[in-house]
Amino acid sequence: MLLSTAKGKLADLQSLLLLCLASTVVGQESTSTCSAVHIILARGRNEPYQGQRQQLLVNATCIALGSTSCDYEDIEYYNTFEAQYCDSLYEGITNGISQITAYNKRCPEAKLVLSGFSQGAQVIGDILGGGGGIFVEGCKQTTTSKLKSSTDAAPGNKIVAALMWGDKRHVASQPYNVLSGLHKDGQFPRSGSQLLALNRFSSILRSYCAITDPNCALGHNVTDHLNYFNNYANDAAEWIRQMVRSADLPKTTTSSATSSPIASADTSTTSPAATSTSTQR
Ligand SMILES: *[C@@H]1O[C@H](CO)[C@@H](O)[C@H](O)[C@H]1NC(C)=O
Ligand SMILES: *[C@@H]1O[C@H](CO)[C@@H](O)[C@H](O)[C@H]1NC(C)=O
Repeated sequence: MLLSTAKGKLADLQSLLLLCLASTVVGQESTSTCSAVHIILARGRNEPYQGQRQQLLVNATCIALGSTSCDYEDIEYYNTFEAQYCDSLYEGITNGISQITAYNKRCPEAKLVLSGFSQGAQVIGDILGGGGGIFVEGCKQTTTSKLKSSTDAAPGNKIVAALMWGDKRHVASQPYNVLSGLHKDGQFPRSGSQLLALNRFSSILRSYCAITDPNCALGHNVTDHLNYFNNYANDAAEWIRQMVRSADLPKTTTSSATSSPIASADTSTTSPAATSTSTQR
């Protein structure tokens, strides 16, 4: 799998070889050691931990980072279809903040990458911007505060990239929106102080939304909601690689590592074959 992904890319093969020599597996789950780059995932509703869609992103990212050590952990939250949607969110947000804080305390040098898909996108957005409100099936989500630190203090200043995919709280025309749905509101657009708080992180955010996605753009094609990682994991991995690199530069030059996200992402369909038939969202 890994070798075929990297096929024809000598540099990638060499870094894979280095990783193998160091007896590290690409995209592995976090252990007690500290990684240079640590990815923290919030999975979609009813997705299992093992085999979740974002595993494609983790693998692509850790391969793109080459010899830079890279691993991931899941935000722990119970979010099956039986769980109440808002209760799951609250648990994900509070656990997520605890896990981000704990990893940063244990590994203060590590660069953090957050990524959330679908319900998990709301978890990530609410961690950064604060949560609470009325959501799916009229459930009431307990209010949570925005992440205290932003660019000036840990752990916020160690977050080098945060990605949201198919977010129900998607807001039209934000500077970090990418893909065809960028000018659409989602089912429950973020507003007011929560949007302002989230946007403290604009320079490290990306929100992926296809115009056909029911969650983030009120579209009508669930497949396009479920397919982000088949279509855009490699694009996102390359952006994360750039964000990791730019975080190493002096502060005055870190303002933009925004290559050509939208145009390239819109047209790239790297592996459209593996269409999911699951109902997870
Ligand atoms: C990601 O890589 C791991 C090995 O590091 C592999 O076991 C897993 O199947 C890969 N997942 C995907 C979705 O490619
Ligand atoms: C939904 O999107 C998929 C993948 O982009 C496409 O193959 C399919 O035809 C679309 N379905 C409808 C009803 O438009």
